[in-house]
Amino acid sequence: MAERPYIVGNWKMHGTRAMLSEARAIDRAAERLMKVEVAIAPPFTLIHATRKEAALIGVGAQDCHAAEGGAHTGDISAAMLKDAGAGFVIIGHSERRADHDEKDSDVRAKAEAALAVGLSVIVCVGETEAERDAGKAVRVVAKQLDGSLPQADSAAEKVTVAYEPVWAIGTGRTPTLDDIEAMHRAIRERLHEIYGDAAESVRILYGGSVKPDNAAEILNIAEVGGALVGGASLTAESFVGIMTAAA
Ligand code: G3P
Repeated sequence: MAERPYIVGNWKMHGTRAMLSEARAIDRAAERLMKVEVAIAPPFTLIHATRKEAALIGVGAQDCHAAEGGAHTGDISAAMLKDAGAGFVIIGHSERRADHDEKDSDVRAKAEAALAVGLSVIVCVGETEAERDAGKAVRVVAKQLDGSLPQADSAAEKVTVAYEPVWAIGTGRTPTLDDIEAMHRAIRERLHEIYGDAAESVRILYGGSVKPDNAAEILNIAEVGGALVGGASLTAESFVGIMTAAA
């Protein structure tokens, strides 16, 4: 288990103000689970309120635009996120890559924009089921890392990588523990090629059907620095179950 596992909830397109009570309960649990670093990424509309209501945990966003501002109707800049109280932003989630046709180069531009205003970034990578079946998973993920990560060595301390196999998201299916370990080791090696020694400071999270009952065994895998959690982050009960397994 990592020294201080990083457990991040991605609320995706879920949550109105009624869900702030879950954030408050997660925050209260974080107070007694100080060995775990906890954060949630609610939808844009709840970032400010979550920051105000949940003082101990990290609060972040699920995307940002690469531009500083301008004529981009409906988009949100990194500086706006920071102003709303976000400390980090998730970039390149497979749902954004699929729904909005985001390419690695878009992901890198967004990550660089976020770093430029002082946000940390969680850059998501992961193979599809067809790519895994074809034996290409490590190659696909390496290519995503090469194309998506901000390049300066100084970026490494603000970057977290989330490995989320697309076929494990929201399906209740996960790779074997050996497959998770092999992929996380491959990611660490690639990070060394990209960032040199600075790569050691990059945390690598696993995401995809993490639940209270499988969290401990996943978090015990070498090189797994924490978890990026979707469905099970939507109630304090299940998310605190994962936080507890990480403690
Ligand atoms: O970003 C987290 C996510 O994609 C995993 O979702 O619902 O499988 O935990 P879920």
